Amino acid sequence: MAFIDDLLKKAKAANKTIVLCEGEDKRVVEAAAKIVKEGIAKIILLGTEEECKKVAPDVDLSGVKLVDPATSADADKYAEILYKAREGKINKKTGLPEYADVAAAKAYICKDRTMFGALILKAGDADGFVSGACHSTANTIRPGLQVIKTAPGIKTVSSCFIMVAPEGGNKYVPEGVALFADCALCIEPTAEELCDIAVATADTAKKIGGIDPRLAMLSFSTKGSGNDDKYLKSVPKMQEALKITQEAHPELAIDGEFQFDAAVAPEVGELKAPGSKVAGHANVFIFPNINAGNIGYKICQRMGGWMAIGPVCQGFAKPLNDLSRGCNVDDIVATVAVTALQA
Ligand SMILES: CC(C)(COP(=O)(O)OP(=O)(O)OC[C@H]1O[C@@H](n2cnc3c(N)ncnc32)[C@H](O)[C@@H]1OP(=O)(O)O)[C@@H](O)C(=O)NCCC(=O)NCCS
Repeated sequence: MAFIDDLLKKAKAANKTIVLCEGEDKRVVEAAAKIVKEGIAKIILLGTEEECKKVAPDVDLSGVKLVDPATSADADKYAEILYKAREGKINKKTGLPEYADVAAAKAYICKDRTMFGALILKAGDADGFVSGACHSTANTIRPGLQVIKTAPGIKTVSSCFIMVAPEGGNKYVPEGVALFADCALCIEPTAEELCDIAVATADTAKKIGGIDPRLAMLSFSTKGSGNDDKYLKSVPKMQEALKITQEAHPELAIDGEFQFDAAVAPEVGELKAPGSKVAGHANVFIFPNINAGNIGYKICQRMGGWMAIGPVCQGFAKPLNDLSRGCNVDDIVATVAVTALQA
């Protein structure tokens, strides 16, 4: 697929170092070997030679840097970083400080490879982080939220999927690439958070998707045609999110609130939102919440045959990405390439 070929080519040129946290997973071990062999990125893989051989006996790991958190010479350095980053934070379950001292932080990171990987990134020993092949999204993202934190000027970490049209293209999306957000991270974003999501997704559309973004704030209502005042009040939320985004970012091509057909189909856009420059031509779709977004991207993927790349995280101070637990080796390779381009 041309989009993926182009992505891999750009990642090779970027020549970044990415940490993969899950040496216990066959797909991750195979992907690590493939990425290094093809020169897509340099890889730090968390795990032992023994466990990698156990899950993928025939894989040649030459060129992959294997790091075992339990015996790493850098564990003290990372424990210090973790302790400082979380000093004063209280564990919600126990009511006690998250880490009593540096020794407690060290004991923790020797067991939790996701946190260890996040600390490699935080310390600047890698340019990007990819995990989540065998851990939940919440457990993959939380170390990032806790220690990597948001980029300057950004309050919300969010995610998007880069959707690539099947062979033959799509009559509604001439570029063949569309972005959906947030389908995986922010559960019920506020209007302010939706503004952050829109701005970050526009940026990802340019930097990774290679497209000029035209954003639609999505709803079941178009320009006030429906209301859910008795229920979630999502229509006024999307209207407010649009207003905030337009005021803060007049340079963005964004409009709403739109039903999906009014956003993407010119004939419906003209009918339901006459005069809008975005209606009927959107290629970046901002959903009201994770339910709508997650269901929406999976319909597009499974029934429409589009390839879904992501979730691509946005807004972190350093690039950190989550894999779907259903991912295959090629998905991991693509996610590493995206991460390298965010670095
Ligand atoms: C991402 C997620 C794990 C955050 O969980 P959470 O319970 O809110 O996390 P916590 O409350 O422990 O927050 C951890 C830290 O991150 C911060 N944080 C949480 N969400 C954030 C966001 N979107 N942006 C920036 N910071 C955020 C919190 O303020 C907190 O900071 P602090 O500990 O330094 O004070 C949660 O939103 C989630 O589970 N999302 C859905 C993931 C999912 O299941 N997806 C499935 C579809 S693929």
